[in-house]
Amino acid sequence: MKTLILFSTRDGQTREIASYLASELKERGIDADVINLHRTEEPAWENYDRVVIGASIRYGHYHSTFLEFVKKHAARLNAMPSAFYSVNLVARKPEKRTPQTNVYARKFLTNSEWRPDRCAVIAGALLYPRYRWYDRLMIGLIMKMSGGETDTRKEVIYTDWPQVASFAGEIAQLTAKSPVKSA
Ligand SMILES: Cc1cc2nc3c(=O)[nH]c(=O)nc-3n(C[C@H](O)[C@H](O)[C@H](O)COP(=O)(O)O)c2cc1C
Repeated sequence: MKTLILFSTRDGQTREIASYLASELKERGIDADVINLHRTEEPAWENYDRVVIGASIRYGHYHSTFLEFVKKHAARLNAMPSAFYSVNLVARKPEKRTPQTNVYARKFLTNSEWRPDRCAVIAGALLYPRYRWYDRLMIGLIMKMSGGETDTRKEVIYTDWPQVASFAGEIAQLTAKSPVKSA
């Protein structure tokens, strides 16, 4: 049995984190498949004993494909050991990097029917030169207002890789759930 790692990305950082998680799990003797959530309707669930889903934020929102996927598969996700990670730039500030203190993670977990066993908030990447002019302008304004990097020639990776490694350790320790007994 393997671990399924699904990612929902726009610019690739959530995929980078998914691959890093997979290599960290491999070091712990756990095989994982890393799959783009936007390109899979129905994973081969029977091949997996654990699932991890990562999704990034753009203009305050997760991608609708990710939200619809979670809604559709909530029962299955709840029936197996699962973990969620949220990727955004607010999380570059350590005090906004927990499921309780990060607005996007907190809102998602409050409203979702999926109850992941583990959750992490991970800082993403700021890739000014790759953004379209409008996005570069908007992100620049947001960074200015929140005291972040404003030099639009720069690319900054805020991801805390030791944090990702320690999240992999938590995922590795998830154990199978016992079936819910009926009364
Ligand atoms: C157009 C755009 C809008 C963004 N909006 C937000 C936002 O509202 N809040 C936030 O914390 N980060 C925001 N970000 C930062 C992304 O979440 C960050 O770059 C992340 O690494 C993207 O992950 P991805 O490459 O997997 O899509 C935005 C980035 C872009 C390019």
